[in-house]
Amino acid sequence: MKITTKINLITTAWILVVLIAVNAVVFFSFMKITVNMEDNALIQKAGQLIKELNQHDTPAATKAQLTPYLTPHSFIRIIQPGGKVTHQVTNDTHLAAKIKPQFASEKGTTRSTIRLNNQEEQIAIVRVPIHADGQVIGTLEFGEKLKGLELGKDLLLSILAFCTFLGAVLSLLGGRWLSNLIMRPISTMINTMEDIEQSGIPKKIVIQHETKDELQKLAVTFNRMIERLESNLEKQKQFISDASHELKTPLTVIKSYADLLLRRGIQNKEVAHDAIESIHSEATRIQRMTERFLDLADTESGNLLETKPINLTALCENIRKQLKSAYKREIDLHYQGDSITVIADELKLKQAIIILMDNAIKYSSEKIDVYLEKKEPFTVIRVKDYGIGIPESEIGNIFERFYRVDKARSRETGGTGLGLAIAKNIIKQHHGEIKVRSTEGVGTEVELYLPKRKGTDL
Ligand SMILES: Nc1ncnc2c1ncn2[C@@H]1O[C@H](COP(=O)(O)OP(=O)(O)OP(=O)(O)O)[C@@H](O)[C@H]1O
Ligand SMILES: [Mg+2]
Repeated sequence: MKITTKINLITTAWILVVLIAVNAVVFFSFMKITVNMEDNALIQKAGQLIKELNQHDTPAATKAQLTPYLTPHSFIRIIQPGGKVTHQVTNDTHLAAKIKPQFASEKGTTRSTIRLNNQEEQIAIVRVPIHADGQVIGTLEFGEKLKGLELGKDLLLSILAFCTFLGAVLSLLGGRWLSNLIMRPISTMINTMEDIEQSGIPKKIVIQHETKDELQKLAVTFNRMIERLESNLEKQKQFISDASHELKTPLTVIKSYADLLLRRGIQNKEVAHDAIESIHSEATRIQRMTERFLDLADTESGNLLETKPINLTALCENIRKQLKSAYKREIDLHYQGDSITVIADELKLKQAIIILMDNAIKYSSEKIDVYLEKKEPFTVIRVKDYGIGIPESEIGNIFERFYRVDKARSRETGGTGLGLAIAKNIIKQHHGEIKVRSTEGVGTEVELYLPKRKGTDL
């Protein structure tokens, strides 16, 4: 069942229940009040009549006194204590015949339903005792058909039934309007989502009115999600295009040397040797580049870190030894105290430190200093070189993927321009920061800020 139909039916059913309950209260209150009023009026009339009656009047005179009090379809009787009727006047003999006379020493009203001319009729009967010398000498019995009440009751029932019907119709119409109002934006959202599903292209929901309600919030959240998706897709596209562009150069070099070998054969040993060497170096470059691509994808994928307490001093000492022996460069490690411990993903942190040291080695020729410091609440790893430095205007760009300040030099050193982008991702995963200070021709300092882990001293 459609949600609109559901809302419609539920609201209509509920409104019907409410209307019926309200109508029942109105109906029963009306009946009670009207009946009470009629009873009181009859009692008053009977009391008035008793005051006017004279015991010593002749029956004809008494009858003459009673007759003006008759209302349409009524009777008035005077009953002796034994139950004998001494006087009776009526304008409806059938009615009088149906109601048995009854002596009563207490004032009271009763109601009786009788069948007259195949119709149910409500009769109100009032009995008021007649006193003389402190004794009850008879009862004045007043009976009348409650025609007005019956009419009023029927009329009220018709009005209430009509109102209930009208309420149900209005509620159906209102429910349909309301459910359309709610469902229109939802239908727009469903259509947009179906479009996205079919075309595979992210698309935003058009928000026509600023309603500031939950549905608008839903649409705004959805649009934000689509925006992020679009930006990620855009980044991916950009990466693929940049990566293919980067791979193109070494591949072109490989292809041209391979062509040369094909054309000239390997008769000319010198040419062949140069060609093979170049092919080897470009293939190594591609290999290095693809490794970098994978590292970048890994640090961007949002994979969870495998954090644990790490002896930072030992880790840096280890890296220093490895690089020192590989590059034959002087690298000094400075720290105070015995050792510094941090909570981090060891492999990733090692990768980030190597990226910084590798840059320092590549872009300088003198010694390199590595400092480990505590700057509460951070642990800082500072790599300082005394090399070519970075122009101030370029510092903001060096964390961008594939960005190299001096492309020719970078190519010489085998740089892909991804190192710092990877290091930045790693530090971001650790909720830290990376800062660069550099002066062209003087040197560069790169700092990794690792924050303390919540709830620990590390
Ligand atoms: N210590 C530094 N001294 C001078 N320039 C630097 C230094 N570190 C980085 N750069 C500049 O920033 C650029 C980006 O560095 P990044 O480490 O991202 O790439 P790369 O070193 O060229 O390549 P990769 O690290 O991927 O092999 C470098 O190409 C270089 O121009
Ligand atoms: Mg680098």
